[in-house]
Amino acid sequence: MKSMLQGAPWLLAHKSMLFVNKPRKISLYGTDYVLWKDGVGKINALPNACPHMGAMLSEGWCEQKEDKSSVVVCPFHALEFDAEGCTILPGSGKKTLPQLQPLELIIQGDFIWSYGGVETKVPIPNILNEVAADYEFIGHTADTSVETDLLSMLLNMHDYNHQNGTHRPLFKIEEVQFGKFIDNGHESHAFYNMPTAKSSLREKLQNTALLALPKVIEGHLENHFPSLVIFHGESALGKVAQCHIFVPESEMRTRTYILMFGKGKNPAFKMLGNNFLQLAKVVVEQDADILSKIYPNTPQKIKLNNEVGMDWVRRNFASFPEIVEPNFSSK
Ligand code: FES
Ligand SMILES: [Fe+2]
Repeated sequence: MKSMLQGAPWLLAHKSMLFVNKPRKISLYGTDYVLWKDGVGKINALPNACPHMGAMLSEGWCEQKEDKSSVVVCPFHALEFDAEGCTILPGSGKKTLPQLQPLELIIQGDFIWSYGGVETKVPIPNILNEVAADYEFIGHTADTSVETDLLSMLLNMHDYNHQNGTHRPLFKIEEVQFGKFIDNGHESHAFYNMPTAKSSLREKLQNTALLALPKVIEGHLENHFPSLVIFHGESALGKVAQCHIFVPESEMRTRTYILMFGKGKNPAFKMLGNNFLQLAKVVVEQDADILSKIYPNTPQKIKLNNEVGMDWVRRNFASFPEIVEPNFSSK
């Protein structure tokens, strides 16, 4: 089945999203997994259903061993499973064969990628490693599971006209001035400007996220199909790389979250970190809200200007993993 683009790499989490010895549920391709980080920072992942009677391992806890590795303990009858999925049955005193097949992870620095156990068709983009080397990590935000399919989620992210509707209460964007689109296959770049209406001091005090908003939002979206979109923003104080991550949890459930990176030119920039996260969180909430309020299979009878990003998504989706004509570069 193609609707979840099997064969693409998915970024399941940034290490900062996992607490040491605290199990966390992650879903991919309709299967739930339990992820946990042990005392030496190693990340483990097993299917979440306990092979005894199906309890969710992510609802259990971790137990640390002498070498600082840890096992996940089932909340139902307290069987413990190590990273290989082996357990020790009460009274036996020795390890069983693996009862659960670990999910294969690819760890690059703090980034936890996975192909979900499916044959690899598309390489992991290197860009996040470059961003991590060049910028400071500000934090993660807006980890949201939305009841929508992957295609609808990606279309929303590459829709350069939805600011006026979906994000109107926040941005007060007057118009979108589209610049250019560079189509390099599974990678693309969109450049546009969005002048924002002035907010009063009162509005700023009520919504401090507005403080981080310039008069004109100069947008550069760097897209890496299908799992990553980076919004590059720059102001006098510094630069941000706001990384939007997508994970197909199941056919009709898609997860998104943001990893925020920044590079300050001015000490005041640091203080804005939380504002950026706050602003980004509101943006994702608004997107999640509209995605739950559309009929995704409605035939599109009307086409607006600047839907090139969505055309790019549709082409890549339809031909995945191959890239076929047309080339959508403009200007
Ligand atoms: S269901 Fe997990 S130990 Fe019984
Ligand atoms: Fe949006």
